[in-house]
Amino acid sequence: PLVSMNAFLPQAKKEGFAVGQFNMNNLEFVQAIAAAAAEERSPFIFGASEGAIRYMGLDNVVALAKVAAKESGVPVALHLDHGSSFDVVMKCIRAGFSSVMFDGSHYPFEENIRLTKKVVEAAHAVGVSVEAELGTIGGVEDDLEVAEEDAHLANPEEAIRFWEETRVDALAIAVGTAHGMYKGEPKIRYDIIEKVASSIEAPIVLHGGSGVPDESIKKAIAAGVGKINVNTENQVAMVKVVRELLDQNPNMIDPRKYLGPAREAMKEVVKGKMRLFGSSGRA
Ligand code: G3H
Ligand code: ZN
Repeated sequence: PLVSMNAFLPQAKKEGFAVGQFNMNNLEFVQAIAAAAAEERSPFIFGASEGAIRYMGLDNVVALAKVAAKESGVPVALHLDHGSSFDVVMKCIRAGFSSVMFDGSHYPFEENIRLTKKVVEAAHAVGVSVEAELGTIGGVEDDLEVAEEDAHLANPEEAIRFWEETRVDALAIAVGTAHGMYKGEPKIRYDIIEKVASSIEAPIVLHGGSGVPDESIKKAIAAGVGKINVNTENQVAMVKVVRELLDQNPNMIDPRKYLGPAREAMKEVVKGKMRLFGSSGRA
């Protein structure tokens, strides 16, 4: 069965590792991620964005995640990624999600607290874990697009107060990463991560995990990051194989012939992340 993030995040924070959130985009993503986790004996989080839910269908998302959880034999959370409203959150919980993110980062601070509290109250009543967001993460992801100049870092004092008032299970704060691939290296503010993580019970979530150098990831985990979101790198891994195979084989028409090897390539990327995050062998 699908589990809440509280099945593994408290341990991650205590023992100094991070659990990966890998977004699902289609069946092959689900299979690649689950196979990687089974081989690595790693807990993991399926991220489903509102865009992915529209694309795959809500019931398909839940059904695929349940099968993958059963087959992989490791703790799996199905998590709404960047949920935009209380309504969307409730729809996902009713459909079978075990975890949700409410992203109220674009609201004024007090309004974000008020809306997040409402989500926490409803979700915790049925054992569903909650992630919230503070500050603005730059870059593009599905429906979200934030220009570089509009991205701003989270204020640590605000983040601590936000957690004390909302008691979310994981807190995403903007610390310098961006959604999508980077043009340059991200300048991650480890000091902000450290300050907030040491003052609250919940782990910090690092969004925009793609394209961040391994060393930076390790430092972020050491500073208090317990959940890392990765999507773009998996998309890149998959499409690279598809493009090569279709380029080399103009007569290839069977999707299994290019999606199968693409799925295999993506599995290796996910396995590498699980090792880097230190979640391998924790299930
Ligand atoms: O919420 C999802 C992540 O933050 C994904 O970011 O596509 O840059 O890996 P990414
Ligand atoms: Zn994100």
